[in-house]
Amino acid sequence: MFDSPGAAYDIIADDYAARFSDELFGRPVDLALLEVFIALVGRRGGTVLDVGCGPGTATTMLAKAALDVIGVDASAEMIRIAEERLPDIDFRVGDFRELDLADDSVAGICSWYSLVHTEPAALPGVIAEFARMLLPGGWLLLAFQTEAPDLTLAEPFGKPVTLTYLRHDTDRVSRALGKAGLAVDSITVRQRDIDAGETANQAFVLARKAR
Ligand SMILES: C[S@@+](CC[C@H](N)C(=O)[O-])C[C@H]1O[C@@H](n2cnc3c(N)ncnc32)[C@H](O)[C@@H]1O
Repeated sequence: MFDSPGAAYDIIADDYAARFSDELFGRPVDLALLEVFIALVGRRGGTVLDVGCGPGTATTMLAKAALDVIGVDASAEMIRIAEERLPDIDFRVGDFRELDLADDSVAGICSWYSLVHTEPAALPGVIAEFARMLLPGGWLLLAFQTEAPDLTLAEPFGKPVTLTYLRHDTDRVSRALGKAGLAVDSITVRQRDIDAGETANQAFVLARKAR
């Protein structure tokens, strides 16, 4: 999964989009955190990256707010679906561990559940890459699963792939942010919605690059 993060999602992209692309809109807390990020970035304007955008879940909100959005995902199939849903947005197939974007070039980066396959040991490198692209004073929003053991799904949606969801520790993420020159603004942890089948709590971390 780590060497080719998009390959498994190419196989389940249609099923994933049908199941998850609208789920955000039924989750007021998650939505509110995304709206805070939009408000913070929108004050200044500039390009916003949705890294690991999948079928364009968070991208929909960023686009509605008229932000200048670039969506990036390692899965070409996810990008195909995102382009169908949001034809006016600049979507690109790419690996967020190494993006061809200049230093200090984007006003905001949103990673909406896209670190779920990044090994904890690789987090500092990925976060340093996000920090490199952010403008001084730019904002980063990370949404990820937390406070639960990792989860391996064999044959999700009945498809012949295995996906392991890595749950990250907010302290570890905060340390990586600090080392990359990003100051943590706020950490929100929403308790898992057991009725909806969530098996982990949900963390939303907002951080800002030093000015
Ligand atoms: C759980 S899905 C989340 C998708 C979307 N953000 C959402 O909330 O529905 C994880 C996504 O991250 C993408 N991804 C994982 N690692 C990546 C990487 N290194 N570079 C680019 N995309 C990556 C996967 O291809 C997948 O589409």
